Amino acid sequence: MYSLRQGASVKISRRGAVPPFIVMEMLTAANRRAAEGGDVLHLELGEPSTAAPRAVIEEATRLLAEGTLGYTESTGLPELRERISQFYRDSAGFDVPSERIVITNGSSAGFILGFLAAFDVGDRVALAVPGYPAYRNILTALGIEAVLIETGAETHFQPTPDILEEVDSKLDGLIVASPSNPAGTVLAADELRALVDYCAARGIRLVSDEIYHGITYGKTATSALAFGNDAIVINSFSKFFSMMGWRLGWMVAPEELFRSVDRLSQNLYISAPTLSQRAALKAFDCMPELRANVQRFARNRAYLLEHLPRAGFDRLAPADGAFYLYADVRHLTNDSEEFCRRILADTGVAVTPGVDFDPTRGSGFIRFSYAGAENHMAEAARRLEVWHRR
Ligand SMILES: Cc1ncc(COP(=O)(O)O)c(C=O)c1O
Repeated sequence: MYSLRQGASVKISRRGAVPPFIVMEMLTAANRRAAEGGDVLHLELGEPSTAAPRAVIEEATRLLAEGTLGYTESTGLPELRERISQFYRDSAGFDVPSERIVITNGSSAGFILGFLAAFDVGDRVALAVPGYPAYRNILTALGIEAVLIETGAETHFQPTPDILEEVDSKLDGLIVASPSNPAGTVLAADELRALVDYCAARGIRLVSDEIYHGITYGKTATSALAFGNDAIVINSFSKFFSMMGWRLGWMVAPEELFRSVDRLSQNLYISAPTLSQRAALKAFDCMPELRANVQRFARNRAYLLEHLPRAGFDRLAPADGAFYLYADVRHLTNDSEEFCRRILADTGVAVTPGVDFDPTRGSGFIRFSYAGAENHMAEAARRLEVWHRR
């Protein structure tokens, strides 16, 4: 309840009171430090430091000059849906008909559309913690119960059928992410298949977040689409394609959900940004440039894996994909938020406390993002080492 400055009390919804995204608060602290003249090395943000591919920017510039950018169809630009379908054929070797692809405003909108189409208020959807915080916060805001499955190093911070068996009552959905955020771990094909089969046998709708596909180091991230057509598959142009602010993603919807997703999309968003959709067509011709970004992540990863242990961060989750290192720092602190603030104040290195990803055990973990520039990684590691020795 909230009292107006004049008049009676009015209601404020409980569902809107989701927790903050603490990484954004770290970013604010880092920006404040920068505004006061301090230098900051950003290892907190989960976004590539690179721009969109050159050809995408050139196409967007041309389209802007061309004039009208009207709405597209609510499911997205047909050419882009077709191009994504071809991308699956080329990269994964299987057919995903364009008729099942919906273009979304980033993967974030894909989650809202998918959750609304698949689940009702009061349904129960399981997800691993540590995990991307928006899953549980979007579910909560939609009145869906987020069932947090605590995972640890022994299962690479991923859920397994055995762990799911221990959940006391019926689940309606399961969210998996491979590669995952914050742990960066990848489900092997047989592990993902086991989860797909587990869900199929029990009538559980699987939601597979495949936003970090294309960013792996020696392992292959398999799509849930390889094992059937029942999963809601979410993907995005924000990570591999380096088009974060273009707010563009896609969903592969199971046939029986497609019309719901389309109707929801019409009403919630009308369409995804037309400029981004049309320019994104060029992204698929930029593979060498995009793969060079992944090679940079790989060099950053190798550098940090070698140097962070010298700075006391020697308990790291296997970083198979994405661009994160999730560090167990229980030997250094039991308050990761305060610890991150101290690191920022003493060294200028911004990192993310684990409480964003795991509300209970996250106080003993922090996340490093290595999506930034190589010289920043080297300087950050150097400063952390000096700090640790002191
Ligand atoms: C695992 C995961 N899923 C989804 C998103 C949302 O990305 P976007 O809405 O930009 O596609 C992020 C962003 O960091 C993420 O880490």
